[in-house]
Amino acid sequence: MKPSAGYSLLAASFVGSTTAAGTPVIVPRASSTMTPITITGNAFYEGSERFYIRGVDYAPGGGIGTPTDPIADSAGCARDIPYFTQLGINTIRVYTIDNSASHDDCMEALQKAGIYLVLDTDNDKYSLNRDAPEESYNSVYLQSVFATIDAFASYPNTLAFLSGNEVINNASNTNVAPYVKATTRDMKQYIGDRGYRKIAVGYSAADVDANQQLMAEYLNCGTDDQRADFYSINDYSWCDPSSFETSGWDTLVANYTNYGLPLFMSEYGCITNSRNFQEVATLYSTNMTGVFSGGLVYEFSQEGNGYGLVTISGNTVTPNSQFTDLENAYKATPNPSGSGGASTSSQASTCPPESDQWNVANDDLPAMPAAAETFLKNGAGAGPGLTGAGSQEAGDSENESVGTASAGSGAVTQTSSAGSKATGSGSSAASSLRLDLSFMSMVSVGLAASIMLL
Ligand SMILES: *[C@@H]1O[C@H](CO)[C@@H](O)[C@H](O)[C@H]1NC(C)=O
Ligand SMILES: *[C@@H]1O[C@H](CO)[C@@H](O)[C@H](O)[C@H]1NC(C)=O
Ligand SMILES: *[C@@H]1O[C@H](CO)[C@@H](O)[C@H](O)[C@H]1NC(C)=O
Ligand SMILES: *[C@@H]1O[C@H](CO)[C@@H](O)[C@H](O)[C@H]1NC(C)=O
Repeated sequence: MKPSAGYSLLAASFVGSTTAAGTPVIVPRASSTMTPITITGNAFYEGSERFYIRGVDYAPGGGIGTPTDPIADSAGCARDIPYFTQLGINTIRVYTIDNSASHDDCMEALQKAGIYLVLDTDNDKYSLNRDAPEESYNSVYLQSVFATIDAFASYPNTLAFLSGNEVINNASNTNVAPYVKATTRDMKQYIGDRGYRKIAVGYSAADVDANQQLMAEYLNCGTDDQRADFYSINDYSWCDPSSFETSGWDTLVANYTNYGLPLFMSEYGCITNSRNFQEVATLYSTNMTGVFSGGLVYEFSQEGNGYGLVTISGNTVTPNSQFTDLENAYKATPNPSGSGGASTSSQASTCPPESDQWNVANDDLPAMPAAAETFLKNGAGAGPGLTGAGSQEAGDSENESVGTASAGSGAVTQTSSAGSKATGSGSSAASSLRLDLSFMSMVSVGLAASIMLL
């Protein structure tokens, strides 16, 4: 992030005294009129309007084995954004970014098109290793994750961060869950401690029936600092021709009814038979919107596994019939009016007990590695990008986690709300502050943002 001198002065006059040293809250971008998305209860909001994710997963070049960052590619964004506009989407999900590159061009072009970003903060080299979770949850990993947050926190159209994608991908590796949850906690704390806007942090779960919902409950249990901001699932159970009942989405909704966090589909779009996106009409109907906030179709471009809506060749984009079907499905499906059945409360879940399906012995989480705590105070520094040495094997006694976190250890110690400090180590102090803090920070960020845009 490169705040201008003018910006720093402006920021200082509104939020300076309560912002972490050296950290801008929102870099002013005069061209942007986008409203940052917030959360109340189990839903997303754009101002006072309920916000439903209508989007696609965007990973051009992501199928060739070399991790590529599609939004560091200004020309690629200029090539593809008109097709996003034609589809009528409001969000893209990007799986891999280079946190040493600039994303200003693409993020500003997306802003002009009214498109938000859901971003995965891990990548092939800097990520948890499901086969060695304890070793891979280390400060080298967190430094990369935090540098990614630094790189995207100032864009008003950064909707959410995903702390992991399908880290649990089988019944055999639920033991990695505490490390995913600790990473999610650490990201929330970093965002708060650095004085950034309250950007939501959640997780994208694999389509594994045996543990998808257990992980949802797990990420929403415990003290508030330990709870994710939302949950998202990859789901391929609706294969056209189908229906709410035939697909099992009726059971899905029943299963997640009363879940306390916003929920959306981070991937959907089965290709088993013909695919004409009949599920869109159901996903954005009140059969589902009390529980789900829309979803992302997997995926924009053909990358070798047959899910693409377009074929990209050099500078040419060729939509296929599924692109047209999705475009028509979105057009035919307005959002429900009003709240769409959303709940305004955000209750915690009960942590799932250890079982044959859930190999997590208790509710303890690993403490943040001591070597990562300095990032909370001083910032993460330069991102390692996609070509560094990687983090999975970087753990040693100096930069791995030691011991179990105490309840409330992830509470934010600097916030953008005047005078409030949630330094308490007790869970009750953290809980009682949660509502006030999120309300206060929404108001102050909103105020600061609207003044900066004048
Ligand atoms: C997935 O989990 C099942 C049940 O625990 C196990 O039999 C199987 O080997 C696992 N597969 C992989 C690829 O780990
Ligand atoms: C709903 O919950 C039941 C009981 O836990 C589970 O067996 C089933 O797989 C779930 N179905 C879906 C679609 O999530
Ligand atoms: C909503 O659910 C009802 C009852 O299950 C079903 O008859 C109807 O087709 C569903 N509507 C949509 C749009 O899926
Ligand atoms: C973490 O440990 C590795 C391996 O010993 C070391 O190379 C690296 O510098 C350490 N990183 C930090 C941030 O302490």
